[in-house]
Formats: sequence, structure tokens, C-alpha cells
Amino acid sequence: MRSSVVWACLAAALLPQSAVAVKEHDFKKCDQSGFCKRNRALADNAAASGADWASPYTVLADSASVKDGQFQATILKTINAQGDTVRLPLTVSFTQSGVARVTVDEERRQNKDIELRHDSKVRKERYNEAEKLVLVGGLELDKTAAVVEDDFEASTNQKVVRYGPEGQFEAHIQYSPFSVEFKRDGATEIKINDRGLFNMDHWRAKVEPKEGDATDAAANEDDGTLWEETFGGNTDTKPRGPESVGLDISFVGYDHVYGIPSHTGPLSLKETRGGDGKYSEPYRLYNLDVFEYILDSPMTLYGAIPFMQAHRQGSTVGVFWLNAAETWIDITKQKVKSNPMALGAGAETDTQTHWMSESGLLDVFVFLGPTTQDVLKNYGELTGYTALPQESAIGYQQCRWNYVSDDDVKDVDRKMDKFGIPYDIIWLDIEYTDGKKYFTWDEKFADPKGMVERLDEHGRKLVVIIDPHIKNVDNYPVVAEMKQKELAVKNKDGSIFEGWCWPGSSHWIDAFNPKAIDWWKTLFTYASFKGTAENVFIWNDMNEPSVFNGPETTMPKDNVHHDGWEHRDVHNLNGMTFHNATYQALLSRKAGELRRPFILTRSFFAGSQRLGAMWTGDNQASWDHLAAATPMLLSQGIAGFPFAGADVGGFFGNPDKELQTRWYQAGVFYPFFRGHAHIDSRRREPYMAGEPYTTIITAALRLRYSLLPAFYTAFHAAHTDGTPILKPLFYTHPDVESAFAVDDEFFVGSTGLLVKPIVDAGKEVAAMYIPDAEVYYDYFDYSVVPTEAGKVTQMPAPLDTIPVLMRGGHAFARRDQPRRSSQLMKFDDYTLVAALSKSGKAEGELYVDDGDSFDYEKGQYIHQRFVLEGSTVSSKAVDAPPKKAGKWLKAMDDVHVDKIVVVGAPASWSGFSAATVTSGGKTWTAPLDYVPPSGGRAAFAIVRHVGVRVGADWEVAVV
Ligand SMILES: *[C@@H]1O[C@H](CO)[C@@H](O)[C@H](O)[C@H]1NC(C)=O
Repeated sequence: MRSSVVWACLAAALLPQSAVAVKEHDFKKCDQSGFCKRNRALADNAAASGADWASPYTVLADSASVKDGQFQATILKTINAQGDTVRLPLTVSFTQSGVARVTVDEERRQNKDIELRHDSKVRKERYNEAEKLVLVGGLELDKTAAVVEDDFEASTNQKVVRYGPEGQFEAHIQYSPFSVEFKRDGATEIKINDRGLFNMDHWRAKVEPKEGDATDAAANEDDGTLWEETFGGNTDTKPRGPESVGLDISFVGYDHVYGIPSHTGPLSLKETRGGDGKYSEPYRLYNLDVFEYILDSPMTLYGAIPFMQAHRQGSTVGVFWLNAAETWIDITKQKVKSNPMALGAGAETDTQTHWMSESGLLDVFVFLGPTTQDVLKNYGELTGYTALPQESAIGYQQCRWNYVSDDDVKDVDRKMDKFGIPYDIIWLDIEYTDGKKYFTWDEKFADPKGMVERLDEHGRKLVVIIDPHIKNVDNYPVVAEMKQKELAVKNKDGSIFEGWCWPGSSHWIDAFNPKAIDWWKTLFTYASFKGTAENVFIWNDMNEPSVFNGPETTMPKDNVHHDGWEHRDVHNLNGMTFHNATYQALLSRKAGELRRPFILTRSFFAGSQRLGAMWTGDNQASWDHLAAATPMLLSQGIAGFPFAGADVGGFFGNPDKELQTRWYQAGVFYPFFRGHAHIDSRRREPYMAGEPYTTIITAALRLRYSLLPAFYTAFHAAHTDGTPILKPLFYTHPDVESAFAVDDEFFVGSTGLLVKPIVDAGKEVAAMYIPDAEVYYDYFDYSVVPTEAGKVTQMPAPLDTIPVLMRGGHAFARRDQPRRSSQLMKFDDYTLVAALSKSGKAEGELYVDDGDSFDYEKGQYIHQRFVLEGSTVSSKAVDAPPKKAGKWLKAMDDVHVDKIVVVGAPASWSGFSAATVTSGGKTWTAPLDYVPPSGGRAAFAIVRHVGVRVGADWEVAVV
């Protein structure tokens, strides 16, 4: 979090020369970032030259070879009119899952024989370690990938490599100029460098302009930003000179692109080169602490995932740009008159993208789908899937900057109970520390141990904040140790970097250093971090990193990390490495304790999904921020990091009660669900709202708690194959053109629940877009929604109502007994809810484990699939049960499916008052109530006292 007040004081004290408010102009635009400006100019130049444009990159034909799933060659870049060239090693790898990876390095820098411009401590080669931190698998090469054509046409020297699980993909690697066309089943889907914007700033020596010689070619190349650059009074020295990488990537026949979070705009990304309703700036990925961020903007935010998908009817493809440096992405769309491979509506458009990064390798992964799920699965194989969370972490989280004392915490806890409001975790922001020294407690928290034990009594937990800036002060052992062991980030000259953050003067832990992680672990043991216990988890904030007096509120790019890499190279990875250090620390805080860590992070990169949750940072208590949260969270979900939330109520400001209520109703469906508030805002715990608001908010929270089994099942799917938790409609309805840009409603997991949060003041009707001709029921009263595929239906939504529909054909499990925390519901019985489709079917699943340990990896879980067809509801295990049941699984023997609710029950059930239950070789009957349709309400049936074990296979028949 950021305080305008504190910031103003600091800014006034530290930066007398600059304005106090941190707004849009405090962050770079493309033309204030030298490499972005140059690469964009290259694009303009190429466009203006038309057919005369020649990309100066050519594959050296003699150098090319294909072996064991890899194409290798050298690209020659012609660097001047004399025809001098530099050599760029190229590798195109083909993986067993059908992913193609194009990597380009620079030979000269690889050989390390270049000279730095000044006496910096940095490595000389291009940064090549992003993969070590980001990739966790999926790299096994497809040794059967083979050249199927050489010298395709006499005039175009090229190789065609066939690859993919069924050999359905082809990479057409053209030599002169270098470009690659990716085809699926013969149709071109993605092209790289077909617009000729590939650019790799090769190493060069700085040429000082000679006195009076304005015509010196090398010096003229220098636009004033190649060797150093100044912004907002900070000068970035560039010891290696220019080294940007740029590439155009075209999606052929694709009208929509999604992904590259985090930004505040729509899910379907906008064009970025100006014009009506378009942005004029590229999307930027450079993790920053953006104070009071603006909406509908391509401006950067706190986290970056350089992964993009393109979608048209029946096909999704994608690219992952593995580069951790500052990155900008331009998007334009081009109508193509006749696309020979046009497949359905939307295919008359090509979406052209232009990726620009400041340094590092060119390393791009190409996914050819054909479904969004295929692309997400492939991406997750590479970067990892979402960690299965602590179950408490998906309950409701009560946070505020700050709960001021241990008594305050206990008081909130008591009041939540008094009002019957469930929550799982209470959070402490920075004020709990003694003077912003992490791992210490302010004197107002005299008895942290007592506080934590008290929470534990009803299954609740505590999260405390720990940030990467370590206070630079005497008599603080943490900073003394970090300095003594040399584990902090350094200045370019090798001395320890000092900057300002919450504690004032601070140093930053360098979590790229494995030794720093080892040291970090020692700080979290229960013996060392006194007052913490097993039910205490962590919040990592400010890890972009935020440096109040640094360029764009972060670290200087020429700072130096472990192993001599410049901050420039690794900036977007910084947050993830710190998050990881904390993750490793929680894993090891007590020998033999194997709980899943829970850590919230603000900054993130591709791969952070393996470590915990993220939230959208410092939003505002306004209706437009509530509205912006939905597309932001959907975008996170399809970028492989679905454990995401937005601060409920809005961080800055005071929401009125209607806004606060509507925000809770939306938050019910956020994968990460936390209420949070700025230090200057009024107290706003749900019980403070007064009636009718407190009752309405409580009902919303109880809805979340009843749906926890369905949410947990959705997390399991995300953990297994990258399925998003909130599914945008282009994902669920990939053939429905009119659904592709819908981003204000979504489906929840596999429940078939279609939700549209109300995000406007005074609004009591929701205009819900219905993507198909299936039957939809109102979740709360089972009325059949009058719908037509592709049309909007008006759903009444007074303040106490959340627009939630059940799509026919889905089933899910719920827990209906309201309790104080998820932990107290652990062994409650389930209700199975099935909404019948037009054809009289419903399907669904339940995944459940102990929600806490790693025993699920040893088969200690229940995973059942439910099917309702005709007159029978059945439950069958998805996997065989483990040989030996542990403690939790044994306890689940006493947990039953108590009730089955069938919405849209067949009329043939009307004559029955009992159902026949069969399980474990026994048969018995259970009472059945059939309620015929009435008015607009569907028929429904309830089977009570079903009495089947949730972990067993069973059948309930109405015959
Ligand atoms: C996380 O820490 C482990 C243990 O030190 C290390 O092996 C791994 O590379 C780190 N990953 C990231 C993303 O920092």
C-alpha cells in the first residue's frame, strides 16, 4: 500500500525538486524510453517504406542444421552500408507438447570479449537466466520433428519443419530475410518478422563525436539515449550500451488478443497506435508501484506476464515472450480482404503485435492451440500451474491498514462472531512492526502469541506483512546480518544500494542470490520470528521493488544483482524472486512441518502462480474501480495466474454503503477475496455498515462459504491443467463471436454459474448476455430465465440480489451450514446441486483434500464425478483411492452428501416421494420432494438424508 500522506512527506523531504502527486506523467511514455522510441520508429520506417523495406537479418544457409528436435543456425545482421555483419546464434526448439521456441543470442556478447563503458561490476553478455527462474518443465524435445521440405521455392531458401503431437504443426523458417511462419493443419496462424521489425541492438563501441564532424555515421546513430538516459532527474548509465530486442508477431486471421496483464483496460486488448477508442501508447510491462492508478490504460502496473493469446471462432493460439526487462507491446489490427484460410467470422482480420524489450535474449514460445485450454495447458507445463492454496486462503480475508493493536484484532474477531459474519484470516499491515523493522512487533502488539492462539481457537489465521526493504538503522540485527553477509542489492560500483521506503533509509534483499534465500529462511523460524505460529502467513508488498526516491519509484536500472546481472535485465523478475524467498522460508520454518505456504504478492511475473496469490494493488473506492476489477481478474485467469483479487471496498477513499455492499457481492466470486482499506479511510468492517447492509453483506459472505467446495474444485483444475477459475465467455464459448469481447460477466469453474456483478450506482437490473440456447435458471429462486442465444436478458437485481444464473447441464457440491470459518466447515456434509440441461442431463465434480498439507500429492484426496441422467444421479471416483487412508481421509468417512437438489427436475419424478440409494453394496431409500413448476419457476426436487459417503461411489435413482 501507499499513503498519499506519507508519500507527500517523504517526497517533500527527499525530492524538493519534484511535484508531490504521483500521476501519469511520473511514469514513462514510449517516447521517453529510448529503446521503445527507437523500435517504434523502426516500425514506422518499415511501414513507410512498404515493399522497399528489407529486414537486415539473414540466416546463414551453411550454418543450418536440424537435430533432435532443434533447428540451429546463425543469423547474420548487416549493420552498415559497407555490408559488415554481426553473428546471432538462432535456435528453434520443438517440444513434445507441440510448443515451438525461438531463441536468438548475440555471439560477441556471448563471448564476453566486449568492453564495458565504465567501471561497472555487471556481466557483459545478454541476460540468459530468466528461464532458470521461470521454466519448470515442458522442455523435452520432440526428436521426431523433422525437415519435410528444403528449398521450397528456388528463390526462397527455407526449411519446413513438421512437429507437434500428431505432426499437425509446421514451422516455415525462411532464410532471407529471416522469418518464421507457423502453420496448423496447413493454415498459417502466426508469423514472426514478416513485417521485418526484428531488431537486436548489437554490441558496439561508443564513438565520441569528433569536434566539427557532424557527418560521422556511427555517432549519428546515437539518438542521445544509447549510452545513457535521464528521466525525472535520474540518470541511467548503460555500461553495455544499447541492447534492445524487438520483434513483430502477427496473428493471421485473428480479431481478438488477450493477456499480458496487468493493465486496467478491457479483456480483449485494444489497438495502441492511436485512433478512435484506441490507445496511442503501447502496453507496458515494467513492474512499478503506480500510485492512484488510472483506468482504461495501457500503463504498467505492479506485475507482468508477457503471455498473449489470440482467438477467433474455433481457434486459440498464443505466444510467451520470456524476457524480464522493461517491455512494451504495440497492437494493431489489419482488415484483410480475402484471407484464403478464412475460417468463420472475425478471420478477415489480422492482429499485428510488436514486442520490444530493453535487454536480454530474444526468447519466444509459440503455442498453436487449437483451444484456449490447450494453450493454457502448454503454458502451465512451462511456467508451472497455480499452487493448490491453503483452504483458508480462499475464504474471506479481513484486512485494514492497520489493525492497531492485538486488542483491536481480538475485538474485530469477536465482533465478526457476534454478527455471524464468516472470515478466515485477519491481516496486519506495516504498523504492527516496531518502527517498520520487519520481524519485530510494535509495543501495541504486546502479546502476539496470545492473539494468534485466540484466532486459532476457531480455525482462523493471521497474515502479517513483510516487505523486501530492510530498515537501515543501528541495533537491528536483520539489517546488520544482511550487510555483513553481503546479501543486498548493490549499486553499479559494487557498494550497497540505499534508498527510501516505508522505514526511511533502507537496503533491499537480493532474492536472486540463493544465499539470500537461505538467510531469509532463518528469519521465519518460530524461534526467530517470535509470536508467529503455524497459523501465521505472509504478505509480500512493495516488491516491484518500490523505492520512493528511485526512478519511476523503483530501483536504478544500473543496480547490480547476484552474479553480476544488471537490475535492468531482471527487473520484472524481482517481485517473484522475493515472493519465492518467502515461500521457501515458510516451507522450512519448522522441521517436519509440511503446510502449504500462503503468501500474497503485489509484484509478479510468469511463474508466480506457483507461489501464492496476487491482488490488483491500490485501487479506489469508486464504482469505476469496481467495474475495472472484473476484466483485470479475468485477464489474470487466462494468463495462468488465476489466484487473484481486488481490494473489496476499494483501498483509497470511503465507499458509500451501496458501493461497499455491491463490492462484497462481486468479491464473493474473486478467487482471492479480501476487504482492505487505507489508513486514512474510515473503519469499514462488514458489521460497521449497519442495516440493511450488514445483513446483505453477511448473506454474500455466506454464499461464498457455501460455494467453497466448488471454488476449491476449480483451484484443483487450475493446479492440474491451467483451467481458469473465473472463465471468460470466449473460453467457454469459443465459437460464439458475440461473446469474445464480453468481460463484465463470467462462469465460475465448472459449476455453470454465470455471474454478472453490479458495478453501477443505483442499478437494480442486470443486463446479462446469454451466450447460448441452453436453459438458464436463476440461482436463488430457480426461475427459468427467458433467454435467446447471443441476446441480453434483463435480470432484476435489487441491492440484496447478486445476478447469478445456473446454466443447465452442470452440477456442483456446496456446504450449506453457515459457520465462522472454512476450517470449522471441514467435516460438514455436502449438498449436491444439479441444474438439468434441456436434454435432461447434468455433470460436475468435487475435489477435496485436507486443504493444508501436501498429503494430496500422496493420493490423500477425494475426487468424484457426478452425473445426472434420466432418473439416476451417480457419483464415481475420478482416480482410484490411495491404498492407505491417512487421518484426514479417514475422518472423511463420516462426511456425507446429505441433500441433492435437482433444478429442472423431470416431470416424471412428480409421482415419487422417495429415491433409492445404492452405495457400498447396500440399498436404502431417501425421502424425495418434488415441487412442480409454478409461474416462471422451474420444477425442482430435493432428496433429503441421502446418507452417502462423499468419498464413496453411489447412485440415487428415482424409479
Ligand atoms: C526459489 O528458490 C529456490 C531455492 O533457493 C530456487 O531453487 C529457485 O530457483 C527459486 N525460484 C525463483 C523463481 O526465484
